[in-house]
Amino acid sequence: MTNTLKVYNPGTGDFIDDVETDSLSAIEEKIIASHTAFLQWSKTSAAERSSLLRKWYDLILANKSELAALMTAENGKPLKEAEGEVVYAAGYIEWFAEEAKRVYGRTIPASTTDKRMLVTREAVGPVAAITPWNFPAAMITRKAAPALAAGCTFLIKPAPDTPLTAIRLVELAYEAGIPKDVMQYVNGNGEEIGKLFTKHPLIRKISFTGSTPVGKQLMKQSANSIKHVSMELGGHAPLIVDEYADIEHAVKQSVASKFRNAGQTCVCANRLLVHTSVKEEFVRQFTNAVSELRVGVGTEEVDIGPIINKKGFDKIVSQVEDAQKKGAVVCTGGTYLSDEKKGFYFVNPTVLDQVTDDMTIMHEETFGPVAPITTYSDIDEAIRLANDTPFGLAAYFFTENYRRGLYIAENLKYGIIGWNDGGPSAVQAPFGGMKESGVGREGGIEGIEPYLETKYISIGI
Ligand code: SIN
Repeated sequence: MTNTLKVYNPGTGDFIDDVETDSLSAIEEKIIASHTAFLQWSKTSAAERSSLLRKWYDLILANKSELAALMTAENGKPLKEAEGEVVYAAGYIEWFAEEAKRVYGRTIPASTTDKRMLVTREAVGPVAAITPWNFPAAMITRKAAPALAAGCTFLIKPAPDTPLTAIRLVELAYEAGIPKDVMQYVNGNGEEIGKLFTKHPLIRKISFTGSTPVGKQLMKQSANSIKHVSMELGGHAPLIVDEYADIEHAVKQSVASKFRNAGQTCVCANRLLVHTSVKEEFVRQFTNAVSELRVGVGTEEVDIGPIINKKGFDKIVSQVEDAQKKGAVVCTGGTYLSDEKKGFYFVNPTVLDQVTDDMTIMHEETFGPVAPITTYSDIDEAIRLANDTPFGLAAYFFTENYRRGLYIAENLKYGIIGWNDGGPSAVQAPFGGMKESGVGREGGIEGIEPYLETKYISIGI
């Protein structure tokens, strides 16, 4: 009897499909197949890999509506956002189809005339990736595309909540002509698969997007066989509204940053620090804008979909309750629509004012549509508060004063900075965090580096 994974719609609780899970021995066979395929794939030309990636990109765009509908069903995000994610996800493939052709080595002048010194780049080997449910397509393609472009083979374990988009993406890769063992997926128990991936000697690189505790565990496990690791982990993004901010613009961009994907992204603003002189106006405009956001199932005309599951929902509710108990004022929201029996959970977009540092929400990632607001009176105090966290993924600030802006940008300890910009993510830019938010970068010219080894060849002539 084969074991299955049941996939449900988080917006309605309806059952969608069964997905077959792999036994550990079946996964081991896939790892071996990945290694065998690597021996050939890594020897193909960059032009060939580029052209296959380009075909995969074209097929994803040709199937945009189908992929978006699948994503909305299993993840819950509004259809428009799902379509946007399909385009974003495909963009990484297009980008790395091009970057495949630009993996350069170099020559070094030798100290004597009887030597030549070369530096070449080569693929690290079979890669195993573990990806999250919040971006069921983009978090796969921004790992898979650079891996395949570099000449690595790729084994993906998608999140148990959203395996259907992943499976469809892999099917389209096969349709594009990418050989079967070059890109494979596995489904099953996350902890066991993580252990197998990290301990298996044929896997040479682990790429993970998810929580910091799981990332730490995977890094520890990978240490035994000294694997390459890329970790894109949790965030706790500060968003600073300076006294010189264009308030209307700051409000628009703050809503975009905070409420994208119902607040369920690692780069969502998680705490708003607003200068006392502009606080009243900012809170008024921000509350108005947030109260207009429409909540509901992703197939309707909505801005905010469901929370992925009960665990995520409970965490959000407990943060809001804790803040209220300690004196936070609810400007809008603070209400929920959930049905545990049916299995759906919605949080109405919430703005909390008069938030203080003793509240949990100021120290933990929320992963939900709740915006806590606190104030500051001096920019160094705001920077200190912003940096006062083990995380360092994304930070945002709003100011029209460019001297002040550069000062803030240079002093924030974050991998991604949005200056007057609530949506800095882009395929051509490096995405990743400092401190406990991770190691490595995805996207941009940096995104292919983690899939390459450097080889130095000294030639005596
Ligand atoms: C994430 O939440 O990790 C991804 C968000 C993005 O790519 O902008």
